[in-house]
Amino acid sequence: MSYKYFLGIQSYANADSGASLIRVNQKTKKIDYVCISEERLIRKKHPYTFPLNSIKYCLDYFDLKDLRKVDYLISDWIKIKRWHRSGPSYNYSEFDYFKEKFKFNEKKIIQIDHHLAHAASVFYTSKFKESAILIVDGIGSDLETTSFFKGIGKKITRVKKYREFGIGTAYASVTNHILNFGTGGEGKTMGLAPYGKKYKNKINIDIKFKDIETDFSKFIKRNPLSDILNQINSNLRVDPIKVPHKFCKNKNHLNKYFSGVAYDIQNAAEVSMVHLGKELYKTVKSKNLCLAGGVALNSVANKKLLDKSNFKNIFVFPACSDAGISFGAALWGAFNLIKGVRRNDLLFNNAYTGRNYSNTEVIKILKKFNINYSQKDNHEIAKHISNQKIIGRCVGRSEYGPRALGNRSILADARSKNMRDHLNLKVKHREIFRPFAPVILEEKNKEYFDLKQSSPFMLLVAKSYKSSKIPSAIHVDKTARVQTINQNQNSDLYHIVKNFYKITNVPVILNTSFNDAGEPIVETPLDAIICFIQTKLDYLILNDVIIDRKENQHLKLEILKKYREDNIKKYENLAKQKLLIKVNKSEFIRKKKYHDHKAIYYSIHNSKEKILNFLKQNKNKQIVFLGTNDHTFFLMKFLVKKFNTKNFRYFEFEKRNDFFENRKTISLKKIKKIDALKKYDYVVISSFEYQSSIKNKIKNIINNKKIFEIYDTSSRSIIDSYYIKNIYTKKKLLMNGPKTKIV
Ligand SMILES: [Fe+2]
Repeated sequence: MSYKYFLGIQSYANADSGASLIRVNQKTKKIDYVCISEERLIRKKHPYTFPLNSIKYCLDYFDLKDLRKVDYLISDWIKIKRWHRSGPSYNYSEFDYFKEKFKFNEKKIIQIDHHLAHAASVFYTSKFKESAILIVDGIGSDLETTSFFKGIGKKITRVKKYREFGIGTAYASVTNHILNFGTGGEGKTMGLAPYGKKYKNKINIDIKFKDIETDFSKFIKRNPLSDILNQINSNLRVDPIKVPHKFCKNKNHLNKYFSGVAYDIQNAAEVSMVHLGKELYKTVKSKNLCLAGGVALNSVANKKLLDKSNFKNIFVFPACSDAGISFGAALWGAFNLIKGVRRNDLLFNNAYTGRNYSNTEVIKILKKFNINYSQKDNHEIAKHISNQKIIGRCVGRSEYGPRALGNRSILADARSKNMRDHLNLKVKHREIFRPFAPVILEEKNKEYFDLKQSSPFMLLVAKSYKSSKIPSAIHVDKTARVQTINQNQNSDLYHIVKNFYKITNVPVILNTSFNDAGEPIVETPLDAIICFIQTKLDYLILNDVIIDRKENQHLKLEILKKYREDNIKKYENLAKQKLLIKVNKSEFIRKKKYHDHKAIYYSIHNSKEKILNFLKQNKNKQIVFLGTNDHTFFLMKFLVKKFNTKNFRYFEFEKRNDFFENRKTISLKKIKKIDALKKYDYVVISSFEYQSSIKNKIKNIINNKKIFEIYDTSSRSIIDSYYIKNIYTKKKLLMNGPKTKIV
């Protein structure tokens, strides 16, 4: 039997590190796949590390000894399309070093656009033959935050994109710089929002809608919001929010201000997504909509989009955040790099993409630690749940993406009024306002929820008609993030819910991810045993057996944890041997020093040099600056010593400024009409914040070759460069921005 293998990983150190491997049977073209997030294997959330363990996990799944059988590695690119150091102003991390040491022929590495990888993940796994595709996230390859694609058959084409000021960045900015929820905390913002409804309009979020643009430029600063300078000195970290705001240090999120802010940004997300849905429909007429990118985790906004646009069917990829990039990239490879693969060669009925842990493996670990167990019975389990017992379930392949869909879940009785608070405070040790989701028999869905279609991946939120029957799985605004279940998706879980229905006449069970606060979802049976003890669950289901905590009081958490730690180390060492050419710490440190130095220089000086060289080369040409007044003022501050500013003219692009309220006025000769720009040899865009929008405005008036853009996707504004005299400065950058009040 001969196979083709496609490995997908992301090209830069990121919170959602992981790997996917796709196998195509050359004869039948049947596609098999395995995907895993690195955090699940190393037991550390948001790892930013090279996915060594995930790659080994994927190779092991298909019994591959090493990387030689892998035909292609497909990855995304960020900021610059190259495999090494693609984001030139990022700090050099172990991720970069391991890429250099990776035992894989670089000629077989294909890099695709980040948003295209998102689009491939959702379109190829949908059942739609053709579809409009909407991708919304923080940033993509070229700082784009929103893309419209069209998918027909195997072909995915980008139709439009919007850069820099989108809802993804605005939402993340509020989550981090006001609410202080940290990396990946956007779900918490969404959970907090309904509490703030009565306190809305706490911050002024000004959005301008036009076509694909959801322009938050009056509310947030443009990217890049992260570079090496941020890492070295927090004083050089830019607060991206332009309006005055507070910062939540004391975790008092339910107060008027912070819950009101959460409401405001959630509302902005909803109106933005509805707007984008309508615009996409105008551009790509289809009854189907595929949705991915981090913002698509906003299940409340997804539902509003579906209700208020003309799309009839919506499909949201379960790992729609960057966790899904590796899968999208590998899938793109399978469909585009070899011939003969048809759309229906890929069956994606559920999101269970991890490996299976056999009963033999389970029994071995139970025996090792003398754990008492018995055979499980689904009716018994349903009865336990109806008797207010809380159950961990670790069965079959794990889910891909941030939602637990039953195989790595904690199950409890949604009918109980205090179950929600009990789970939040005593079991999962997390914020009291966080909601839980219901898993419901698909055939009963419409009786309980305002949902026209099934929601197998828990990515649609809907009003409940019977909220009083299942209070613990319903949010404060009477909605729920619904998971519908049928026999095909997960027969065993289906039967647990069905049995529960027979006992209680309620076809719903509360389903939450199987993890403790701050921990990744459990992956292995051993992880499940550890979390089961730590969170004091009543029962644990491991494949075909059930464990009662009362009968296993002898288990010592520290011993189990130590055993796991040793296993993780062993696994990682094996992965290193298999996948890397010998690595050496001192070599890494040497390289880091060299590359970090270059990155610092790039962030601060690259643009300055670029504009100076340009002007030197075009000394005798007629040049006009087009931009904001204050930014042009700063340019002049750099240029005036070397050039005669009398040769320059200036045209002001709207009354906007790059530098908050502190507008300076320059004495350059002004041009009043935009048409006059045509007669100049070159137009230099003198704005950092609005470079893209200015270019868009003039692209039909001025020949592209005559437009000079100072900034690329990685460098800082010349205004920042001017103030950064020393990167270890104790002075905060942009002192005259809005004052943030720490609460
Ligand atoms: Fe993304």
